[in-house]
Amino acid sequence: MKITVVGGGYVGLVSAACFADLGHNVTIIEIDNQKIDEINKGIPPIYEDGLEEILKATVGKSLVSQADYHDLEDTDVFFICVGTPPQDDGSANLTYLSQAAESIGTAIRGAKKYQVITVKSTVPPGTTESVVLPGLLRSSGRTEESIGFCMNPEFLREGRAIDDFKNPDRIVIGGNTNDAIALVKQVYAGVSAPLITTSIKAAEMIKYTSNSFLAMKISFSNEIGNLCKKLGINVYEVMNGVGYDHRINPHFLNAGLGFGGSCFPKDVMALIRLAEKNNEEPILLKSVITVNEGQPEKIVSLLTERIGALSDKHIAILGLAFKDNTDDVRDSRSIPVIQSLLKKGAKITAYDPMATESMKRYYPNLNYKQTAGEALEGADACLVLTEWPEFKAIDSEFNRMKTKVIIEGRRILSLDGIEGVCW
Ligand code: UDX
Repeated sequence: MKITVVGGGYVGLVSAACFADLGHNVTIIEIDNQKIDEINKGIPPIYEDGLEEILKATVGKSLVSQADYHDLEDTDVFFICVGTPPQDDGSANLTYLSQAAESIGTAIRGAKKYQVITVKSTVPPGTTESVVLPGLLRSSGRTEESIGFCMNPEFLREGRAIDDFKNPDRIVIGGNTNDAIALVKQVYAGVSAPLITTSIKAAEMIKYTSNSFLAMKISFSNEIGNLCKKLGINVYEVMNGVGYDHRINPHFLNAGLGFGGSCFPKDVMALIRLAEKNNEEPILLKSVITVNEGQPEKIVSLLTERIGALSDKHIAILGLAFKDNTDDVRDSRSIPVIQSLLKKGAKITAYDPMATESMKRYYPNLNYKQTAGEALEGADACLVLTEWPEFKAIDSEFNRMKTKVIIEGRRILSLDGIEGVCW
């Protein structure tokens, strides 16, 4: 099939590459010329496991990136993957989405074939039908008989996105007609997974609900963890016992510093705003955010309890990324921790296997180190802020500290008896 993906960001690029890998002919429309050049040379502009291999195998054959909307009349399915960033009040900014709809519409004005426009961006329920559909029909001058509309949310985790694409728990397709849904189903013909078809609005809501539920599991574990800490109980033992119940399941119960990243904080906030706009008080969702925002300060308070006032203390930070296997620091819990430490006058050395360059945009003047050992040299205390698997191997490096006070914000070290933010 001929597929056009609008937006070569994280979701768009990974999806486009995987569509090409499935055997489709894929065009990525992207506004950033540097990104276009990199993609067309087979160089991934972002780090993602397995992406480079797919780009190398498909670019120049079945995958191309371009800036403008030309030669799209023969596209079967469009996927809109542009950003919907949060506005000041937490609601989603839909400017890029409506621009994409207008531009696609103009590009397919004269097209004769049946085409489907699929929104993959995370959008509030109702957006596809109230923003994309009318904008696109207007600019294309065509009717709903010749264009179908679908919403197909993504559930890709950063760092594991290719694997998630190839082995999803489910594929959700919301559509306005059976023909539209059938065409999008065909795109995924090579992927084996339960296929759930819904209304467009339900598909939009599934994405927000899934992410909010996962975020809720984390905040729930953290609330229990904070109590366990006071009671001298290891929350990991507790959640292990809890997670064996199949109605709960063992995943996403890791207590610690809370959730960061580009999705959970933004999506929970957007759902809160949506509820409020509809005169519903989202009590539970607000608590999910409140618990999450409290966790970074917990580790700083605990540190103060252990080593006293932080002024002029040397704190080694291991991990800056919002989670392991990514260079992404967006909404990373390390940011409020660093902010608080600096405010209290601490001196920081920091090490992350991948995210140093990204963190320099937030904190250009931190003392970044090339290895964990260098960061630990002479430190009064160490905070572990990201669950990088390579931290499991750190052992004798801790002997380089002045005083061996180690507190984990993510439970990842292999040493015995290490204290955690809530264990
Ligand atoms: C998430 C969703 O998992 C994915 O389905 C969606 O499409 C995009 O958002 P991602 O942001 O890549 O993916 O990260 P994820 O692996 O879900 O982790 C999010 C955050 O939660 C990280 O900061 C992680 O450290 C934290 N986390 C995760 C916990 O604190 N405890 C856990 O048990 C799991």
